[in-house]
Amino acid sequence: MNIRDSAIKGVTCKDKGLYVTLPNGSHAYFNFYWLRDNCPSSFDSITRERSFDIFHLPQAPSAEVAIIKGDNLVIHWAGEDHVSHLSLDFLAAYAGGQRRPDPANLLRKPWFSDHLPKVKRFSQPELKDNPALVIKWIEALLIEGLAILTDMPDSESGLTETANLIGQIRPTFFGAFFDVHTHINPTNSAYTAAALELHTDTPAEEHAPGIQFLHCRANTVNGGLSIYADGVAVANDFREVDPKGFRLLSEVAVPFYCEHDSYDMRSRQTVIELDEKGDVSGLTISQHMLDISDLPQEVLDNYYPAFCRFGKMLQSDRYIINFTMKSGECATFDNHRIVHGRKAYVAQSGDRYLRGTYTDRAEMRSNYRALVSQGRFKVN
Ligand code: OGA
Ligand code: ZN
Repeated sequence: MNIRDSAIKGVTCKDKGLYVTLPNGSHAYFNFYWLRDNCPSSFDSITRERSFDIFHLPQAPSAEVAIIKGDNLVIHWAGEDHVSHLSLDFLAAYAGGQRRPDPANLLRKPWFSDHLPKVKRFSQPELKDNPALVIKWIEALLIEGLAILTDMPDSESGLTETANLIGQIRPTFFGAFFDVHTHINPTNSAYTAAALELHTDTPAEEHAPGIQFLHCRANTVNGGLSIYADGVAVANDFREVDPKGFRLLSEVAVPFYCEHDSYDMRSRQTVIELDEKGDVSGLTISQHMLDISDLPQEVLDNYYPAFCRFGKMLQSDRYIINFTMKSGECATFDNHRIVHGRKAYVAQSGDRYLRGTYTDRAEMRSNYRALVSQGRFKVN
């Protein structure tokens, strides 16, 4: 029976797909390739991966018969010995092309200089045995971008073990971790006792690491206060006061570098990072790693004033929190969103030692989804 262009029990077939009447009464269109590819039998229940290979279909899929039976759309495929049963609830979730709901897609909450007492704090030993607390920690990182861990073990493995609670270590060209203290021959401003302007780390990497961990293992020096600000709060305000400047900073990629005897990393990044909805999701900024700009000088006539206006906003009191890190604390933050730095300190006045590492933003979201939701394939 060919039902093309005829309506049978809530199904109307067209050339390339069909309209289905959904439980809410709406008529939604679905393409035949999509329906065939996403037949429940296309997925292996053990590996949970797609095991059907649509490239092997000898011809474009089309329905021989399509009916609604109970809560399912049932399709007998033309030229194939195959019948698909697709639940109407499943179809409703994909009707209209909306994105698959993502539990990790939590709304960012910009914060300002009054945020310090509200920064979420978690005791590291408690996190280790408590997935519910890890969920809260990740939520703080997704929503506010910053959380502080306390009671860190003062051991070589302590930081890695902590980072592994939300992801694998994401090495950079400096290796799996870095140690911040004063060096005799520093290759980096961080390894001096000088102030470090607000920045995001390793902007010269093509994909700078997502989540940063800074574990304070000693801090008895005079000075060296840690400073943090929320790049999303600053860039949102900048968008309001200087829409043209905002466009330049979110559209024009500028060069970043990190160069010494044995490395010469380079990348081009926009200073303001937007997500797929056009909302500010972060920044890439570093005074000490911004390369000599090779943009046309006429572009710089507009770019530099906008960049400086933005930089002045970023450094204004409205946004900055500062505090002295205590040994045993570990700042954890979104390296694409939260700018961080430190004030200068007196090198001979005591010890100051921070160990840092990174994990990935996407992997943290993956862990979060796995912790909070049953997922598509899990059965109770
Ligand atoms: C760094 C850094 C902060 C500090 O090494 O990139 O930001 O407090 N260090 O020393
Ligand atoms: Zn840094």
